[in-house]
Amino acid sequence: MAKAKKKEYGIKQNPALKQIAAPVLAYEPPRPRRYNPPIGLIGCGGISASHLGAYKKMGLNIVALCDKIPGRAENRRKEFFPGAQVYSDYHQLLKRDEIEVVDIATHPSDREYLIPAAISAGKHVLSQKPFVTKLDKGEEFAELAEKKGVVLAVNQNGRWAPHVSYMRQAVNKGLIGQVAGAHLRCSWDHEWVRTTDFNRLHHVILFDYAIHWFDMINCYIADKKPLRCFSTLMRAGHQKSTPPLLGQTLIEFEGAHASLVFDAAVSFGQEDVSYLTGSKGTLISRGENILNQPVSLYTGKGYSTARLKGQWFVEGFMGTMGELLCAIEQKRQPINNPRNNLRGLAMCFAAVKSAETGKPQVVGQVRSTNPKTCRVAPK
Ligand SMILES: NC(=O)c1ccc[n+]([C@@H]2O[C@H](COP(=O)([O-])OP(=O)(O)OC[C@H]3O[C@@H](n4cnc5c(N)ncnc54)[C@H](O)[C@@H]3O)[C@@H](O)[C@H]2O)c1
Repeated sequence: MAKAKKKEYGIKQNPALKQIAAPVLAYEPPRPRRYNPPIGLIGCGGISASHLGAYKKMGLNIVALCDKIPGRAENRRKEFFPGAQVYSDYHQLLKRDEIEVVDIATHPSDREYLIPAAISAGKHVLSQKPFVTKLDKGEEFAELAEKKGVVLAVNQNGRWAPHVSYMRQAVNKGLIGQVAGAHLRCSWDHEWVRTTDFNRLHHVILFDYAIHWFDMINCYIADKKPLRCFSTLMRAGHQKSTPPLLGQTLIEFEGAHASLVFDAAVSFGQEDVSYLTGSKGTLISRGENILNQPVSLYTGKGYSTARLKGQWFVEGFMGTMGELLCAIEQKRQPINNPRNNLRGLAMCFAAVKSAETGKPQVVGQVRSTNPKTCRVAPK
């Protein structure tokens, strides 16, 4: 009697693939050929140390440092660029004609007046993230920069974290074909915000932190229209800081989908994973943190694992400023230009509103963030 065929319900093992050499991709931060202009930095708070460390490594020419809180700019001067002039009033920095590029590392509310002031003074500008709290404001800044003939870029440094940059290049080169799924999960400990101003920012996860991940999705699924976002957000039962640390978002595109999961109250066993799958293959990147991860590529040709040089918290910051300087030198728009960034922000705004309403939101229809939940609340 013929043996009944075992039902497998489509469950398969991965086909045996041979190991091949990892594709060589230009993932390292871009560097201008000759352009090394005088640069001023406004906002010498926590993150400015990462900016200045990267600029020192690049051999950039930081000539001015400004912070309205006494002592902050002076401390950065001593540590990174002893020859720089220190200011407490940004107008004084902007008055210096030889300064061509201004890096603005304040919170978004201060950037709302600092960005137009710097552009109007004829400076090229690198803005920290999240770029703006209103999409129309971002458009307005992009138009103002065009009108004044200067270049504006957004410091989405995650794009040049080695593994993210490698995956972006792999996707851009079509190595996995049409991307159909992008699933990013971060499981780490964000309780450090407890002793900082971020403890008074309700959406420290879905707005302040996740904007890097919305920007990654923006890059990985660049050719499809984002349609809707649905999010949840809650406090972990054991967390000590004030803002809710558990957030997640689903994003629908035309012919693709994405998910972001943030477990930001992990005490042990943290992990960060990206899984991108397309019509020709899959990219997987995994590590215990976001700094540097090996990236594996699976296609019909075989599988490979790329071990990459650098770390997010150096190369990421070299990448954003390097791309701005290359764009100025080559008279083109940087890839981290404001209009491109606004696409990621539109997803972020919709995700934040969804978490607040419990309902899916159409991407692009949520034009601004809720000032009560997306700004550092006054003390
Ligand atoms: N990976 C990243 O890129 C990353 C990481 C952390 C923070 N950030 C972003 O960087 C920005 C700043 O964060 P932070 O942690 O450094 O904040 P912070 O509060 O430590 O520093 C901000 C600084 O800006 C100064 N400032 C504000 N207005 C000013 C003005 N008009 N003139 C001069 N100085 C002024 C403040 O005095 C303060 O020292 C935020 O938007 C945050 O989201 C980015």
